[in-house]
Amino acid sequence: MIPVILSGGSGSRLWPLSRTQYPKQFLPLNSDLTMLQETVARLGIVDHVSLVCNEEHRFLAAEQMRVINQPCSIFLEPVGRNTAPAIALAALDAVNKGKGSECLLILAADHVIEDEAAFQAAVCQAEPLASEGMLVTFGIVPQHPETGYGYIQVSSEYAASSAFNIKKFVEKPDLDTAKSYLESGDFYWNSGMFMFRADRYLEELGKYRPDILQACEKAISTTAQDMDFIRVDAEAFSLCPDESVDYAVMEKTESAVVIPLDAGWSDLGSWSALWELKEKDSKGNVTEGDVIALDTRDSLIMSKDRLVTTLGVSDLIVIDTPDALLVADKNHIQNVKKIVAQIKDAG
Ligand code: GDD
Ligand code: MG
Repeated sequence: MIPVILSGGSGSRLWPLSRTQYPKQFLPLNSDLTMLQETVARLGIVDHVSLVCNEEHRFLAAEQMRVINQPCSIFLEPVGRNTAPAIALAALDAVNKGKGSECLLILAADHVIEDEAAFQAAVCQAEPLASEGMLVTFGIVPQHPETGYGYIQVSSEYAASSAFNIKKFVEKPDLDTAKSYLESGDFYWNSGMFMFRADRYLEELGKYRPDILQACEKAISTTAQDMDFIRVDAEAFSLCPDESVDYAVMEKTESAVVIPLDAGWSDLGSWSALWELKEKDSKGNVTEGDVIALDTRDSLIMSKDRLVTTLGVSDLIVIDTPDALLVADKNHIQNVKKIVAQIKDAG
């Protein structure tokens, strides 16, 4: 099995802590380890991991692997083209090295998983199914009508295993659709972690998105290896369409199965998700750094290097960094990426 960690996201929903130069996967948000290091650590001991990240972050990624003593290969993307091409690079490299029938365990670098043993058990269950040629995804029992996730509707049990056949896979539905999925009770959230053979992924990608496959084949045909870094052809890769694995393959393939995962999973996709995850004081607040919160309820307040005080407020997110301050209503926090877009437009 080859663990492949997707670490090329921009993390804009965790601005102003997560920045283009230093996105959230490289930050220690949940423990002393960074999100990327946690992703590797929960695998237990593994000989080697593959990371796929933006070229700009190569030294961050390499240094974070060095600190935890983890041998790795780091695929460098000259531009982000989303997860379908990122996975294709790792899969094509495996095929080129004669390892096409090996299983890739695709992991996001922005997840928290509390029960590592349950996670490892699910990975063990997935391996025989993936070896057989199935595209395995890990499904989480949904807690609320989240529109930022993919939904998987299950049907019957798959071949008397602990997996289920998939009736339909819907990436990021609108709120009303998400509510109806939650009520129906036969949907899981797509965890964004997958396991499949490298050659099977490429076969399915070629069936549904031959344009992405061809662009990635071209990009990887002239790679340059430099220490742990594998650089793909910048021009060829920049011509690749931008698409996530969920839309490109998972919504369309007829070979997917889901393994339920009950392991205290969450995607640290927003400040409210971080607030939900962390231990709160008696007033429901999470504070970090030099903070005084009086008559304050259900808020997340973080300060990097000066005193931050609040009085008589509730459901607030306050994130203070040396050069930017965010003050937001907790219920509007998904729109932080609109602020980031506006800053980019202005800059
Ligand atoms: N290498 C690389 N290149 N990695 C990327 C890129 C890219 O262009 N874009 C995103 N990633 C990485 C992110 O860093 C993250 O670790 C992972 O791929 C998933 O990307 P997100 O951008 O966080 O996806 P999402 O959260 O909106 O949606 C996905 O995950 C959800 C669960 O967390 C989907 O798979 C959903 O279906 C799923 O529910
Ligand atoms: Mg995510």
